[in-house]
Amino acid sequence: MMTIAIIGGEGIGPEVTGEARRVLAWFAARRRLPVVLQDQAYGAEAYRRTGEVLPAATRAAIAAADAILFGATGGPELAALPDAARAQGGLLKIRKDLTLFANLRPIVSHPALYEAAPLKARVLEGVDFVIVRELNGGIYFGEPRGIETLPDGQRRGFNTQTYTTSEIRRVARFALELARTRRGRLCSVDKANVMESGVLWREEVQALRDAEFPDIALSHLYVDNCAMQIVRQPSQFDVIVTDNIFGDILSDCAAMAAGSLGMLPSASLGPADATGRRQALYEPVHGSAPDIAGKGIANPLGAILSVAMMLRLTLGRPEDAALLEGAVGATLAAGARTADIAEPGVVPIGTRAMGDEVLAALDRAN
Ligand code: IPM
Ligand code: MG
Repeated sequence: MMTIAIIGGEGIGPEVTGEARRVLAWFAARRRLPVVLQDQAYGAEAYRRTGEVLPAATRAAIAAADAILFGATGGPELAALPDAARAQGGLLKIRKDLTLFANLRPIVSHPALYEAAPLKARVLEGVDFVIVRELNGGIYFGEPRGIETLPDGQRRGFNTQTYTTSEIRRVARFALELARTRRGRLCSVDKANVMESGVLWREEVQALRDAEFPDIALSHLYVDNCAMQIVRQPSQFDVIVTDNIFGDILSDCAAMAAGSLGMLPSASLGPADATGRRQALYEPVHGSAPDIAGKGIANPLGAILSVAMMLRLTLGRPEDAALLEGAVGATLAAGARTADIAEPGVVPIGTRAMGDEVLAALDRAN
């Protein structure tokens, strides 16, 4: 039996995770997927009951689980908690504590969404790439950081962008290996024209490729150019590897090449142990969207496609992953749309109804 810890979190997190959970339960019941689903307390609600955003029981459960399914975090309720409480249980802390250094964000365009997407159909054709975002380092975690008051009374906010050789090589190796299983092309993204951390990034990625991955076609782009290229011609990319903050920004930008942020799944993976297993957290890329929370209208497909990634990357079920991705594709092709992906004139359905449509498509395909 494999154990999946489920954390709905805040905002629309519980709603979209609820649909992803039903999909997992479908695979358990209909495809004999040997999983135990454990719901775990997290967030403002958990803080009210236990005094911790990430209670000890949840910490133990996610450390021991084979995979974590995460919804979303953030929003007014969490923002109202004391800083220390928030820092204790933040998503960034989970990523760091579990050494989830490789964040995979696949960008695939669905022909059914061309009309709803903000980019032109001819630009979206053939889009299929993965952003590998470094998730444990860079300016998100660099010291020193803070806000200080200067002698003249002004305040000064500061953060530190920092990368070591091993941090760069660890994620570059992951991306080079991933490129080997795909179309053999890797684009490394930095700001080496301005930042020393970017100079090192570029040198280390190139050196690793030259030493161990001569079969991979490696290119480099500055991050500003990359943002423009993702909008201009996203189909040119196979695998992109970049640092923590550039990956954060580029993946939101790249979401438009998939039609909507609501469509994007992600996997955050740790180092492989002796048996090849990695700690893994799966979550939709969208955030908690407090403006639509509790209304039952959020798009659950990012969360559901995160289950497909889990099936492939943790649960060893590539055929089931393909079955689920096919069911999502069929659901979209049949015209089901939540509000974020509805083209003009289409009446959108809600979160639960979209989950129903995917389950029905799974039933048909099984
Ligand atoms: C993401 C999010 C997070 C990040 C936030 C919620 C801290 O934007 O996963 O892309 O910046 O990493
Ligand atoms: Mg982000």
